[in-house]
Amino acid sequence: MAMLEINNINCFYGNVQALWDVSMNVGEGEIVALLGANGAGKTTLLNTVTGLVKPASGHVSFMGKSLDGVPVHSIMEMGIAYLPEGGRTFPDMSIRENLEMGAYPRSMWKTRKAGIDRMFELFPRLKERSKQMASTLSGGEKQMLAMARGLMSNPKLCLFDELSYGLAPIMVTEVFRIVQSLREDGITVLLVEQNVKQSMEIADRAYVLENGHIALEGPCCDLMDNSYVKKAYLGL
Ligand SMILES: Nc1ncnc2c1ncn2[C@@H]1O[C@H](COP(=O)(O)OP(=O)(O)O)[C@@H](O)[C@H]1O
Ligand SMILES: [Mg+2]
Repeated sequence: MAMLEINNINCFYGNVQALWDVSMNVGEGEIVALLGANGAGKTTLLNTVTGLVKPASGHVSFMGKSLDGVPVHSIMEMGIAYLPEGGRTFPDMSIRENLEMGAYPRSMWKTRKAGIDRMFELFPRLKERSKQMASTLSGGEKQMLAMARGLMSNPKLCLFDELSYGLAPIMVTEVFRIVQSLREDGITVLLVEQNVKQSMEIADRAYVLENGHIALEGPCCDLMDNSYVKKAYLGL
């Protein structure tokens, strides 16, 4: 059984169906990409995993336990970190204070110093700026801070929504390099992205969502060779 199992999700906003019988899974240790254009339903799917959106039907389980009806904070305590689109930071707090705010569940509070040291290893740019207010960081640095704050909870699984969106190309490369390095820490990743090319370069497998349907799925090496993917998503 996979670490995260999403089975037959149907989801509506009012009368409009946003997800159609969507199933996917993420195995322990994998980096899996959920790809698709703006409006495809990617964020909606993540929100059904974290309990923020209730699907009309379908089930989600994590490490063999059903997440149906489980409140968001309990899901986080089970070891899932969710970084929403536009990754949020506390603007009037320093980098260090932002990281301390991520030391949750409470058990993480005791080890927050070691956690922050680990984050400074992963994100040297944050270390150099540890006393700086988050509001003064560049877009890419804010995104790194949001990632680091999420990682302070010592998650087993990270859900990253549009990490690369709006970042300068050099920052995208840096942020994706860090995602890839999370493997060494035993962290599993579900990467939700519009940036198809770079996501496929670092992910093991991908699912392509189109208008609320899974249009394609498979190992990234195969999908990158797929003529439809090349034409529709890679501009080749
Ligand atoms: N809160 C909402 N109320 C109504 N419709 C929504 C809401 N959130 C998203 N949608 C619609 O659901 C579809 C999928 O949106 P979303 O999951 O945000 O896509 P993506 O993250 O892939 O860009 C879109 O058509 C969007 O307009
Ligand atoms: Mg989205």
